[in-house]
Amino acid sequence: MPSIKMLWIFLLVCFHPGYLESSRILALFPIPSPSHYFFVLPYLKSLASMGHEIFSVNPYPLKEPVKNIYDVPVPEVFENFDEFVKRVLTSKNTWQSNDVFNEYSLNLTDTVLNNEGVRREILSPKSAPFDLIIADLWRIDALCGLAAHLEAPIIGVAPYGTDWKIDELVGNSSPNSYLQSPYSHFHDLETYRGRLAQFVEQSISWINYKWRHVEKLKALQKKYFPNIAKIPRNFALVLVNQHFTLGPPRPYVPNMIEVGGLHVDQNPKPLPKELEDFIQGAGDAGVIYFSLGTNVKSKSLSEDRRNVLLNTFANLPQRVLWKFDDEQLPGTSANVFISKWFPQQDILAHPQVKLFITHGGLLSTIESIHHAKPMLGMPCLFDQFRNMEHVQRLGLGLTLNLQEMTAEEFNSTIVRLLTEKSFDVIAKTTAARYRDKPMGPMETAIWWTHYVLRHKGAAHMSVAGKELDFFIYHSLDVLGTFLLAFLVTLGILSIFIFKTLKRFK
Ligand SMILES: *[C@@H]1O[C@H](CO)[C@@H](O)[C@H](O)[C@H]1NC(C)=O
Ligand SMILES: *[C@@H]1O[C@H](CO)[C@@H](O)[C@H](O)[C@H]1NC(C)=O
Repeated sequence: MPSIKMLWIFLLVCFHPGYLESSRILALFPIPSPSHYFFVLPYLKSLASMGHEIFSVNPYPLKEPVKNIYDVPVPEVFENFDEFVKRVLTSKNTWQSNDVFNEYSLNLTDTVLNNEGVRREILSPKSAPFDLIIADLWRIDALCGLAAHLEAPIIGVAPYGTDWKIDELVGNSSPNSYLQSPYSHFHDLETYRGRLAQFVEQSISWINYKWRHVEKLKALQKKYFPNIAKIPRNFALVLVNQHFTLGPPRPYVPNMIEVGGLHVDQNPKPLPKELEDFIQGAGDAGVIYFSLGTNVKSKSLSEDRRNVLLNTFANLPQRVLWKFDDEQLPGTSANVFISKWFPQQDILAHPQVKLFITHGGLLSTIESIHHAKPMLGMPCLFDQFRNMEHVQRLGLGLTLNLQEMTAEEFNSTIVRLLTEKSFDVIAKTTAARYRDKPMGPMETAIWWTHYVLRHKGAAHMSVAGKELDFFIYHSLDVLGTFLLAFLVTLGILSIFIFKTLKRFK
C-alpha cells in the first residue's frame, strides 16, 4: 500500500514542528565594506542550500551563481566610500565624526532605495511578498522602514557586536559602567576618568543621533514610505557577532543571540601548492602572516613605513606572507611572499603559521582566536583599537602604532611574540574555550532563523522595554517623583527651621 505510506510521510512532514516550506527572504547588506557582507554570506548560502530563496541587496554580487541566491547589486555605494573614510579619519571630535557617520548612512539609504534593481524587485507593488528580512544593523534605520513597509519579520545582524543603538531596537541594556561600545575610543573603565570619558562620548553620540539625525531620517523614510511615521523597532531577532570568550561577557535580552564567528569556515581547505611549498620551506622557524585588511591599502603606506616593514622582515629567520594590494613591491627579500589575496582562514589554520600581524578587524581577530594564533595588532580605524585592546588584555597579543613604530620596536615585538611561551599557551586555552559550545555559530543562527519563521516573527520573545521611552526605561519618572518629594520636604523643613530660628531671635 505505497499510497497510504506516502500519505503518512506527507502528513508527518507537514505537521512536524521543525518543518518549513521554503521562504522568500530579503537580505539587506549594502555597506561597501567586505567585513559586513562576507560575515553573513556563508549564513545566506546555508539558508539557500536549505531551499530558501534569498534576494540579496549588496555591493559584492557573486562571481559564480549559487542556487537560490538572487543578487540585487548596488555598486553605486562605492562612489563616495573613500571620501567617507577620509572624513572619518580627519574628524576633529566625536560630534563631527558622528555627523559624518550619520550623514553617510542617510546617503547610503537614499542610494539603495533609489537603485533600479531595488525598485523593480523589491519596492514594486507587483513583487511577491517576503516571509523574512535579514538586515545589517549598521546605522541604516531607514531601511528598517522598508521592513515595516513590506510587513515581514526582520532579523538584524550586528557584524561588530552591539552598541546603544542596536540595544535600543530590542530593549537590551549594556551598562556604560563596564561595557564599551564598538565605535567609541578605548576607555579604561576600571578608572573613574575612563568611565566619565566613555559616558560623555556615548552621550554625544546619543544626542547627535536624537537631535540632528532622527528628523532627517524620518524625512527620508517619509519620502519612500509615506505611511510609516515612526522609525520602526520591530525586530524579531538580533544576531550579534560576539562571544563571551572574544570580548567582555555581557547580558542579552532573549531575542539577542551571540553568533560570534558565523563566517568562520569549520573545515579549512588545503593550501594551493605554491603557498604550501613556501610555508614548508620555512622549516622550524615558521611563518608570519601579515595583512592590514581591506580598508587600509598597504600600497598607500609611505615609503618610510614600507622600509620599516621590509627591513624588519628581511632580517627575520621566519618566512612572511604579506597581503599587498599591488603586483610588485620593490625591495622584498626572498623570505617574503606577496599576494593581493590569500585564503586567510586556511593560512591561519596551518600549523606552521606562528603569528598573525593584523589591523585588528573583528573578523580577523575572531579567525585568529579560532585557530589559536597570537596577534600583533596595528589598529587603524573603527573598532580595531578596541578589539586589539581586548586581545592585549587577554594576553593573546601585543599592539603597535603603525605610523609611529620604529624598526627596532617592530623587530623586538615580533621576537617577543614568537619566543615568549605565554602568548602561545593563552592562544590555545582561549581557542579551546571559544570552540567548546553546544552548537556552532552557523547552526545557532539557522536554528533561530527557523524559529522566527515557525513562530511568525516570534513577538513573544521581545521584552516590553523596547517600546519604552528613555525616561520610563530608566525609571527617571519614578526617581523624579522621589527627588521632588525630597526637595519639597527639604523646602518645608527649611521654612520651618527658618521660622523657628526667627522666633528665638
Ligand atoms: C552625502 O551626499 C552629499 C550629496 O551627494 C555629499 O555632498 C556628501 O559629501 C555626502 N556625505 C557623506 C558623508 O558621504
Ligand atoms: C631583532 O631582535 C632580536 C632579539 O632582541 C635580536 O637578536 C636581533 O638582532 C634583532 N634584529 C635586528 C635586525 O635588529
